[in-house]
Amino acid sequence: MDPSLPGGDAARRYFVRTYGCQMNEHDSERIAGLLEADGMERCESEDDADVIVLNTCCIRENADNRLYGHLGALTHLKRSRPGLQIAVAGCLAQKDRDAIQERAPHVDAVFGTHNVHRAAELLREAREQGPVTEILEELAEFPSALPARRDLAHSAWVAIQIGCDNSCAFCIVPAVRGREVNRRMGDILSEVEALGRDGVTEITLLGQNVNSYGRDLDAGQWRPRFAELLRELDAIEGLRRIRFTSPHPKDLRPETIAAMAECESVCEHLHFPLQSGSDRVLARMHRGYTAERYLDRLASARAAVDDLAVTTDIIVGFPGESDADFEETLRVVMEAGFDSAYTFVYSPRSGTEAAGMVDEFVPPQVIRERMDRLVEVVEGSALSRARARVGEVEEVLVEGASKKDPGVLTGRTRQNKLVHFRADPLPAAGTYGEARITEAAPHFLMGEWLRQTAAPRHRTRIPLAVSSS
Ligand code: SAH
Ligand code: SF4
Ligand code: F3S
Repeated sequence: MDPSLPGGDAARRYFVRTYGCQMNEHDSERIAGLLEADGMERCESEDDADVIVLNTCCIRENADNRLYGHLGALTHLKRSRPGLQIAVAGCLAQKDRDAIQERAPHVDAVFGTHNVHRAAELLREAREQGPVTEILEELAEFPSALPARRDLAHSAWVAIQIGCDNSCAFCIVPAVRGREVNRRMGDILSEVEALGRDGVTEITLLGQNVNSYGRDLDAGQWRPRFAELLRELDAIEGLRRIRFTSPHPKDLRPETIAAMAECESVCEHLHFPLQSGSDRVLARMHRGYTAERYLDRLASARAAVDDLAVTTDIIVGFPGESDADFEETLRVVMEAGFDSAYTFVYSPRSGTEAAGMVDEFVPPQVIRERMDRLVEVVEGSALSRARARVGEVEEVLVEGASKKDPGVLTGRTRQNKLVHFRADPLPAAGTYGEARITEAAPHFLMGEWLRQTAAPRHRTRIPLAVSSS
């Protein structure tokens, strides 16, 4: 142990396992950054770690089950390695609080979504005084100043907003992430400029409802500023790709569509969560739009942005969803022509409005049948959208070697489609180039690498300590 380092943690190694969405992945980067600032070192597996942080999600019931299943599996590791510390962070920690240590007494520290900044102190406190749970009800301030150890050198997530002020009847996010807090535009621009100086060329802006970004920033003046933010970011030299997730269909405004169309760096991809195609279900979900309005906005976006790829989220089996409601969803999905869709079985989350509609729960067998039909339509549309790319020359950002075959590289087009290709010599991660698309499947494209257009700009960095599950 090196007493000159804070907390004497020189030799301690940490491992962060992340469940859930990009916001959680980014929080994990912050947790990793804080632990490293406290003198810890990253390691590659839980078996080698002195500190294991599980950064959790509770969006659906299976997310809960996975966490408790994994905690159970860690019991033997904890027994065989008495110095090992286990921390549970994130949305499930925020929801279950003290119940985590009641169910899993071998957990040393529990902290929630509003006190990520306390990760290192809480682990130290737990070492000195025994198990600790700290959950805050509100975010003290936007965590702009926290360090982050990022996974990739050329691409970065940038949080612009935390929490959500909507009240979708199925959704637990507002309960575990709190009210919507927007980050000051100057802080976002400084972070992105600093990332640019490090060689990051692609960013993804994160928020639960990015279209409402900025509305609380000017005191007393309701003024969404997302379009303005896109334009400011587009002006940053060296930044080649701007992505964002998720925009809420009810708040997609004409000026945002115009900014998407006019800003060269904003990619031709819109993740546009539909949830249901039935007006009756959408109203019961409190989504704030009808199917027609959704399709109109989509048509405006497609009319303005050439070659726009559109992806979505759909829930099957929301309480009270009838056969006719589901047919409406299929109709809208066919009309929208999605490039891909995340399809979810409705999962009741205690405390949400829909979880109380027990009498109207849809039988699992009916949900399964509907899901099979939906997936068939979605895959058909994904395949035809992918086939339309065959023969095109696309800009590809190289991500790295394929997991299955190190001789094959993977990258992404501006539309966010995955492309596999061979090249000799192999371009490094972070390289931009052109590839001709030769084959298409619903979830990926095959391509032929033609030429490099821009070399990676980042300095070589040690890779990060976050892992996704
Ligand atoms: N803020 C984003 C959604 C974040 S949650 C938005 O409004 O689009 C990501 C997705 O999880 C949602 O779009 C929804 O499709 C799904 N989801 C959320 N709660 C769910 C639940 N209780 N059961 C099933 N799917 C759910
Ligand atoms: Fe959940 Fe709705 Fe907020 Fe999205 S907009 S996080 S679905 S409450
Ligand atoms: Fe994300 Fe899951 Fe929390 S989807 S916001 S990590 S509940």
